[in-house]
Amino acid sequence: MKFFVDTADTNDIRELAVTGLLDGVTTNPSLIHKAGRDFLDVVKEICAIVPGPVSAEVVALDHETMMKEAEILRRIADNVAVKVPLTLDGLKTCRKLTADGTMVNVTLCFSANQALLAAKAGATFVSPFVGRHDDVGFDGMQLISDIRLIYDNYDFATEILVASIRHPVHVLESAKLGADVATMPPAVIRQLVKHPLTDKGIEGFLADWAKTGQKIS
Ligand code: E4P
Repeated sequence: MKFFVDTADTNDIRELAVTGLLDGVTTNPSLIHKAGRDFLDVVKEICAIVPGPVSAEVVALDHETMMKEAEILRRIADNVAVKVPLTLDGLKTCRKLTADGTMVNVTLCFSANQALLAAKAGATFVSPFVGRHDDVGFDGMQLISDIRLIYDNYDFATEILVASIRHPVHVLESAKLGADVATMPPAVIRQLVKHPLTDKGIEGFLADWAKTGQKIS
């Protein structure tokens, strides 16, 4: 499963990129607002840090304007994945862009039927939002399971990019269900590495090592 980080904070992205664990980045208009920087500048900077797909979202709602915005976004770098909303205009835009060889991430997916449409439109990625689905009383992970089944039934190449991840259990369940990508806030990526028994084990080993009086040199 690929790991994307869901942020527009370039300091966090740089820090995580050097670990070699990062396969891509997702942004959205809210994350750009939080970063407080010029959208195009920040996308350009992220694309230079991470060679994998970097999602940048259009904000228009009609196909024609979406295409104009997509044109600007895809010119930033070859690794830009244009993010479009799961609407008819978004799907139409997706079809057109992927036919031209541009990566497209169809976002705000909340049903398996919507994911089926994204695959039929040739999406590179579909982004089901598990956390927001849980928030309104649905089972976000069931959505991932349903999409996996449907995509496998028809051999769709669209990658399931699990979005709106809130905690490590979402990541674990995504991996168990065979999701292709998980996009996570930086804090969740950092949480994945932590285990109290790992910390306790290191502490114990180092205490005993100090008693040996030896050095590795
Ligand atoms: C995905 O691409 C979105 O940017 C993101 O995962 C949304 O997450 P949220 O529900 O925590 O805002």
